[in-house]
Amino acid sequence: MAGRIDAQQSSPAGLDHLIAHAPKSPSLAAWTFDPSDLRQDLRQLPIGVFDSGIGGLTVLEAILGLDAYNNDTLQPGADGRKDFEGESFVYLGDQANMPYGNYPAAGQIDYLRELILKDAIFLLGRRYWPDTNSTEPVFTKQPVKAIAIGCNTATAYGLTDINSALKTWNLPVFAIGVVQAGARGVVQLPDAVIGHESSIAVLATVGTCRSEAYPRAIQQALGQAGRRQPAILQKGFVDLAAAIEGDPQVLARNSVQQIVHRDIREMLESHKQSGSGQPISTVILGCTHFPLVKEQIINTLRDLRELKEEGQYPYQSLIAESIHVVDPAEWTARELFRSLALARLRAASTDQQSGSEPSIDFFISAPNPRCPSVQLGPDAGLDPSYKIARQPGQLTVEDTIVVPLQLDQIPAGSLNLIRHQLPHVWSGMKRQNDQ
Ligand code: DGL
Repeated sequence: MAGRIDAQQSSPAGLDHLIAHAPKSPSLAAWTFDPSDLRQDLRQLPIGVFDSGIGGLTVLEAILGLDAYNNDTLQPGADGRKDFEGESFVYLGDQANMPYGNYPAAGQIDYLRELILKDAIFLLGRRYWPDTNSTEPVFTKQPVKAIAIGCNTATAYGLTDINSALKTWNLPVFAIGVVQAGARGVVQLPDAVIGHESSIAVLATVGTCRSEAYPRAIQQALGQAGRRQPAILQKGFVDLAAAIEGDPQVLARNSVQQIVHRDIREMLESHKQSGSGQPISTVILGCTHFPLVKEQIINTLRDLRELKEEGQYPYQSLIAESIHVVDPAEWTARELFRSLALARLRAASTDQQSGSEPSIDFFISAPNPRCPSVQLGPDAGLDPSYKIARQPGQLTVEDTIVVPLQLDQIPAGSLNLIRHQLPHVWSGMKRQNDQ
């Protein structure tokens, strides 16, 4: 299928060009970093998390709130101390270029892969712009020691590229992604939930579904555990992530609730047509934006199960009575802890750090007002047709720049979701805003 990415994916010329271009020292150019920053003791450097927008904040929240291990022995088991105590973080939301999930269907996989690798290069480097009116970038950001891809689409299309670039650059930095971590979350469910009598529904972007990354990762993880393979169905949501971000063009057509209802009903209709009939017992929130509307998703499934039309219950047999929700964010947080411990990259924590709030630097991308070729839409974001038609390999055209996030850049609706659902992230954002 077009859009499917294989583990051994070949690297297009544009990507090779970017991999050759990035490690430079010193350099003022965009999408470069200084490799010598990363060939020393990395332990006190921050951890990088990125997404195409605010969705990855659900992953950051899971990381900040995790207490699943003993911080001294590193063994599983809560010890009343946050597992990432003493760590610092850099978050990037590539908001100007989102939604990532719609590039594959437009035949723009190579461009998407380049965007994803550029996110990683930003995290490895020091370069950013103080604000969108600045005339020059500055170089005071800290490089990161590890990268957690807080985006399913970016994991599906870019994790392999990031890993092979890190290898080419010979860096001791590692990267992990949400998809493989989410699949390991599925393995934790008992056979009674994911046996052959039921199905798993992956709710994701259209791009993630096309990549087949989830079915493959789940089959692999269950296969390794010697478990039975359940039926897996996928539903690609075209515009839910953008609606959650508060995109005015999407919200002018439908509310978040209407999109959730419409797309879940479409998924059930196609499940019915497929004739497999196994009720959905497990839902994977396969887009990091979706945990922000988890209640709406669960309530919609419950309502549709009970829906009675013309004396019939059209969806009752397709939805199990109790639904298990897998949020890959939690499993990503656990994997990050284990990988940091394994790589001996955990920050040396001090007594002062115990219980103190972690330092987090939040960044987002925005259109570059000084780039002559950039085309803006009515809402001052990149014009959607310009955005989707760009070609990879144009490393001198910096049409978007990365700036520190300010709370007034986030639409009120998304800010509300963050404030109420992501308390650790929210207090970090307020700290940055008050500085
Ligand atoms: N949050 C991203 C994910 O997990 C998707 C949003 C987008 O399409 O950019 O796939």
